[in-house]
Amino acid sequence: MNLIDKTIELVKEKLEGTESGHDWFHIERVWKLSLKLQEKEGGDNQIIELAALLHDIADPKFHNGDETIASKLVHEFLSSQNVDAAIIQKVIFIIENMSFKNRHDAPEDLPLELKIVQDADRLDAIGAIGIARTFNFGGYKNNLMYHPDIKPKLNQSKEEYKKSQGTTINHFYEKLLLLKELLNTKTAKEIAEHRHQFMLQFLDEFYKEWNVNL
Ligand code: ADP
Ligand code: NI
Repeated sequence: MNLIDKTIELVKEKLEGTESGHDWFHIERVWKLSLKLQEKEGGDNQIIELAALLHDIADPKFHNGDETIASKLVHEFLSSQNVDAAIIQKVIFIIENMSFKNRHDAPEDLPLELKIVQDADRLDAIGAIGIARTFNFGGYKNNLMYHPDIKPKLNQSKEEYKKSQGTTINHFYEKLLLLKELLNTKTAKEIAEHRHQFMLQFLDEFYKEWNVNL
């Protein structure tokens, strides 16, 4: 079995039973999207594939906030597969710095491989799949779908964002609608345009139906 197949096997095993917005199929979409972006934008294929496949292997929000498990796991696994130390370091750097909630602390000059995997992850957070994932996560957290009196909180710090008990509709304003402007690559920006419009249209319909505005 080659390294990528072994990685897939590990990821499927680790993500068994996770919330369906962060399960193997999310990883598979981000992996495929990363490869599509790579075709247009360049970057090292192996680093991109490994980072895409391993980027959510131990998401802190499903591990009591522990932000160190993922790096340890990835280091252990890739070393056991005799991957070059320099490559391991690059993959871990991407995983540690690509998250939306960590964007305020990320270094300014990011490697192309990170930009690509981050764009792919962000594209999977918007559009029809993004809407579905967001409602699924909100349900998983037992959050309200919407409350007319609870307003979105913009410019939240990392701590506020993590603790946020807001509504699922507010998550559109706190994250999803911001993503289009945060994308790195031209190819991802083009793909995002349609997905962004689709979310705006969805919100429009949502409020019309909520207000029984026929
Ligand atoms: P990251 O891991 O990049 O920091 P998150 O894990 O916060 O980003 O978000 C990943 C996806 O999980 C979001 O795009 C969304 O679909 C869902 N999600 C995260 N937080 C919320 C929330 N408070 N309400 C609804 N969905 C959420
Ligand atoms: Ni992800």
